[in-house]
Amino acid sequence: MALLKLENVTVNYGSINALSGINLEVNEGEIVTLIGSNGAGKSTTMRTIMGLKHCDGGKIFFNGEDITNKDTRVMVQKGIILSPEGRQVFPRFSVEDNLRMGAYTRPDQEIPETMEQVFQLFPKLRDRRKQIAGTLSGGEQQMLAVGRAMMAKPRLLLLDEPSLGLAPLVIKEIFDMIDKIRDMGTTILLVEQNARVALRHSDRAYVLETGRIVLSDTAQALLNSDMVRKAYLGGL
Ligand SMILES: Nc1ncnc2c1ncn2[C@@H]1O[C@H](COP(=O)(O)OP(=O)(O)OP(=O)(O)O)[C@@H](O)[C@H]1O
Ligand SMILES: [Mg+2]
Repeated sequence: MALLKLENVTVNYGSINALSGINLEVNEGEIVTLIGSNGAGKSTTMRTIMGLKHCDGGKIFFNGEDITNKDTRVMVQKGIILSPEGRQVFPRFSVEDNLRMGAYTRPDQEIPETMEQVFQLFPKLRDRRKQIAGTLSGGEQQMLAVGRAMMAKPRLLLLDEPSLGLAPLVIKEIFDMIDKIRDMGTTILLVEQNARVALRHSDRAYVLETGRIVLSDTAQALLNSDMVRKAYLGGL
């Protein structure tokens, strides 16, 4: 049984159709990537899974249970956590306070241990734990955003464009850390425009074009696919 399953999911913004009956599965322990151009519906998919956007048709299952249109708080309690597009750290709060806010559903006494695990994943955040988040570099803020999501001990981590706007070396750091998070036992659904790097770090992937899944396969097969290379990897 898949950990996450989207069955024929349709989402509209008013009269605009953003997702037209998409089917997608993520198995426990996998890294699965959703690739697609601007406006394809990637963030909409993430927000709908999280219950932040209403699902207008179809069903979403988590661990076999129908979670369609449940409250976002319910998703968080079940272990689904979103690290949203554009980082969205709390700029006036310290690194440590941002991390603590990610753990709001967890018992207080467990927070120090989880924070220690996050600091092991991101040693840079430990060095800067008293720094005001708004003064961190873009890459550091992205690490903080992912670290904050990890504070909730997710079973399924949804990462929306973690590499957006970052330099190649920082992108590498972010993806190394994504591998480590998976090795710690967290399942990951990743959204990326940076298709080449994402596919190299994924088990499987789906290609989304204007609200429809047009292709899905192992990441390796998609890296070799003419269509994907032409449209998403900068040529053949
Ligand atoms: N709040 C909204 N109101 C109306 N239309 C929206 C809203 N949010 C998204 N859309 C539309 O839904 C479609 C999918 O948007 P979405 O943000 O999911 O795309 P995306 O694949 O994440 O794009 P990007 O790569 O630019 O982040 C787009 O046509 C977008 O204009
Ligand atoms: Mg998006």
